[in-house]
Amino acid sequence: MADLVVRRLLIDLETPFARHWCGGDAFRSAFFNALSMSFPVGEQFFIDAVRNGFKALPADRQERFRAEVQGFVGQEATHRRIHGLFNNQLEKQGLVNAWGPRAQKRLKLLEGVDPRHWLGITAANEHFTAIFAEWMLKNHDLLDGCDARLKTLWLWHSAEEAEHKCTAFDLYQALGGSHAWRITWMRRVTFIFLSEALRQTINNLRRDGTLWKWRTWKSGASFLFGRRGLLRQSYQPWREYFRDDFHPNQRVSDLSQRWLAENVGQYTPVGAG
Ligand SMILES: [Fe+2]
Ligand SMILES: [Fe+2]
Repeated sequence: MADLVVRRLLIDLETPFARHWCGGDAFRSAFFNALSMSFPVGEQFFIDAVRNGFKALPADRQERFRAEVQGFVGQEATHRRIHGLFNNQLEKQGLVNAWGPRAQKRLKLLEGVDPRHWLGITAANEHFTAIFAEWMLKNHDLLDGCDARLKTLWLWHSAEEAEHKCTAFDLYQALGGSHAWRITWMRRVTFIFLSEALRQTINNLRRDGTLWKWRTWKSGASFLFGRRGLLRQSYQPWREYFRDDFHPNQRVSDLSQRWLAENVGQYTPVGAG
């Protein structure tokens, strides 16, 4: 069981940052911006899914999850709030978040649906985030040219995603969620996540005036498919989710703990789960 600490990040997000805050790179900035735009809606959904899943457990089985659920909710609520501040700056830069409202509309369709479906969707998304987090922590030097505040923001978020990657999955299993639905949701989530991320990245680049620049897509290709590319390195861990005996804990790494230990000056713990 994970002991999830909620941390307040000590970075200033009221002071504007450059449009190409990610090392002067238009594609990477637009891509990370797109992800951030999905977080407030997405993470609220994960919180609701985990809370409702917890409530659906019989009373005698809730105890094992109580502290972990509280920590999960605290961490995701903090992420939402901080990415909200980040997104406010993007709005001032003239970018328009279309992903968030589209996701909100889709998620409305799930009202009243069995909490295991909510958890199946959340567990799939959390696997995505965990893969992405691991990639980011491993390749943190790719963020070296970034605005230092934002590098901290993304690595802190990654570290906490790695910490709580099992919560939704374990609740799904505890409620008797099936393997068939788990992988069905993973297929759907993969399609929606990738197409939405691409769509919002293009939207951001278009408003930034860099969509039709050769340099933008050259950088995009190496960022996604290069030797250390995000998609290239994520394919294998993504596939693991389809195995019968998959569990998020099987991928062991100390990168999250290491980052948190080396960056204690960047946050204050506000409570343990
Ligand atoms: Fe998060
Ligand atoms: Fe998460």
